[in-house]
Amino acid sequence: MSYAKLHGIVCDSHPNDKNQKHFTLLFITTLGSRPSTMAILVTGGAGFIGSNFVLDWLADSDEVVINLDKLTYAGNLQNLASIEDNPRHIFIHGDIGDAKLVTALLTQHQPRAVVNFAAESHVDRSISGPGAFIQTNIVATFQLLEAVRAYWGALDTKRMGDFRFLHVSTDEVYGSLEKNELAFTENHRYEPNSPYSASKAASDHLVRAYHHTYGLPVVTTNCSNNYGPFHFPEKLIPLMIVNAQAGKPLPVYGDGQQIRDWLYVKDHCSAIRQVLAKGQTGQTYNIGGWNEKPNIEIVHTVCALLDELRPRTDGMPYKAQIAYVTDRPGHDKRYAIDASKIKNELGWEPAETFETGIRKTVQWYLDHAQWVSQVQSGAYRAWVAQQYGATP
Ligand code: NAD
Ligand code: DAU
Repeated sequence: MSYAKLHGIVCDSHPNDKNQKHFTLLFITTLGSRPSTMAILVTGGAGFIGSNFVLDWLADSDEVVINLDKLTYAGNLQNLASIEDNPRHIFIHGDIGDAKLVTALLTQHQPRAVVNFAAESHVDRSISGPGAFIQTNIVATFQLLEAVRAYWGALDTKRMGDFRFLHVSTDEVYGSLEKNELAFTENHRYEPNSPYSASKAASDHLVRAYHHTYGLPVVTTNCSNNYGPFHFPEKLIPLMIVNAQAGKPLPVYGDGQQIRDWLYVKDHCSAIRQVLAKGQTGQTYNIGGWNEKPNIEIVHTVCALLDELRPRTDGMPYKAQIAYVTDRPGHDKRYAIDASKIKNELGWEPAETFETGIRKTVQWYLDHAQWVSQVQSGAYRAWVAQQYGATP
């Protein structure tokens, strides 16, 4: 039985940054027959969480992964370099909003599940330019759902029942908590405050509606802040690591007392695998690390680890580089996830503590200077200059 055949590997320019080189997998698919191996379609699998998920999935299972990613500034095929020769990974450069492409991929590869990571994900960018968030997180997600609904509706009864659409979402849809309020459960009201979280909330509602109206077997996960390998250095933890190493200021918004609930990315990936395997269709599952910390504490922890692992040559502590800067507009004060449901119903718990996860993460960045310098391209420098001024 014939299936997708990897045709070769070429070095290509990143679509949004001509200074950045990427490996692009070219593929040829032979039409007309059902694949003999089970497959899943992962969207956004060249981003931070998606690439960690794809790497772990290929290590843990025998299935094929079709990886559809638009390669925005956040998508990076270097994250997938270790699997570039793996025939079970088929990378497709494309948009989840391209219904023709998605329909062709579904028809050809017959996946048993779609795991949707693809999104615009950075709150600060959603404040300075919300349009891309509306387009991808709402419009393109709707187009993806339409293509998946048509594919699913034509499956035989058994495969229809087994199929899953897993939508990866965020705790930010629930809005901001006061210090004394209980952590978010799955029943918490939706109260998104940024264009990013509003667009993710809209996508969650669409996914829910496709289950309620059409019966599409969906599950949605709402996770807290992730950290770990391949995290793009526009987000707090990797930005602090790379700025500290470069001798630059460590920009802390406002008073640094905002609270986030941090989870090591590999634990998020294991939770998604568990929800895919055992989650009830139509349900949502909150995912978190029971690990609330104020931003300033996170920054101090990163500085202390760097002091230990790669001390400054002048003997000064890295925390001397901390600079308080203008706050993010509409900055949410506190997120906290109640992860009881996924523990009680699906038996999932994180494997890492914050102490073990953050140490691994800082060490990973120190060990991957080439990856860091590659992502700090012209487009990255333009963003940093716009957000923090010329000398971030
Ligand atoms: P990311 O920005 O690192 O990666 C997003 C990926 O999606 C990139 O590879 C990008 O190229 C791709 N993409 C963007 N638009 C696309 C489109 N139209 N078609 C195909 N691909 C497209 O994001 P991330 O941090 O890895 O987050 C992944 C998902 O998890 C997002 O849906 C995000 O909302 C959610 N999430 C993130 C966190 C977190 O802390 N990072 C926490 C909870 C939930
Ligand atoms: O809660 C889950 C969400 O976590 C995800 O849905 C988002 O995709 C992800 O980006 C993240 O959103 P945050 O806005 O919480 O992450 P970020 O790393 O941008 O910021 C974390 C906190 O640190 C936040 O309170 C803002 C603050 N911050 C951030 C940056 C980039 C600073 O103080 N200085 C900075 O330079």
